Amino acid sequence: MLMIANWKMNMTKGEISAFLDCLAGEDRWRVWRDKGVRLVLCPSYPYLEFLGDQCKSRNLPFGIMAQNMCAFEKGAYTGEVSAAMLKDLAVEGVLLGHSERRQYFGETDGTVAEKVTRALSAGLLPVVCFGETRQERESGNCQTVWSRQVGPVWERVQKSREAGIRIPVYWAYEPVWAIGTGQTAGLPEIREVSSHLLKTFGPDCASGLLYGGSVNDESVSGLFEKGTLHGFLVGTAFLDGGNVLRVFDRLFGRP
Ligand code: PGA
Repeated sequence: MLMIANWKMNMTKGEISAFLDCLAGEDRWRVWRDKGVRLVLCPSYPYLEFLGDQCKSRNLPFGIMAQNMCAFEKGAYTGEVSAAMLKDLAVEGVLLGHSERRQYFGETDGTVAEKVTRALSAGLLPVVCFGETRQERESGNCQTVWSRQVGPVWERVQKSREAGIRIPVYWAYEPVWAIGTGQTAGLPEIREVSSHLLKTFGPDCASGLLYGGSVNDESVSGLFEKGTLHGFLVGTAFLDGGNVLRVFDRLFGRP
């Protein structure tokens, strides 16, 4: 199980330290890790290395991923960060295609596919976000949207596999109408996504599904089903260390 905190454009050094202090000194992280549960934190670029050092100094076994990266390899792309730079900072993976990237920064399904190829060749684990808007759900277009967003990426993943790259890919189903709204999808919707991926792209594709969108300690238990979901991508609730502990206690029990 992968439990990912997407901090978005939040959390300064002081806030990161306070967050980790709230989780530190707890043996339970090792117990949860031994059960196959991992907490992965996604800070903004400038804090990737700082966060790694801070986790190490508190003996906290958390993974670190970036929230985005550039589709190009290197060169004259002012303001961008490359896959090689993330690797250099010991980052293990990267969120790609988040709906906020699509909505505010013009990322297309094509760009997301390019980025996934780039991430895989650099040895980064991609977590690819997809999901429909409210309007797309109301007009009954969900399956078409999911296929359109996942299809080009899955093609690239297959190509990388043919080239010998065996890094797993995670898919974060994040309906746009559920992000930051307090509304979540239900288990029936999540099951429909899982079976759509299975039917359309095969079992290998459906084997790394996460859910994101207003997950918190109250909603999380009702959303989880073993075999269907392999983790969660959490924004607002995981800005707070106490909430992280509450969600973990709910799902995995207090060791
Ligand atoms: P939320 O954000 O948990 O605040 O809804 C999730 C996300 O955007 O990844």
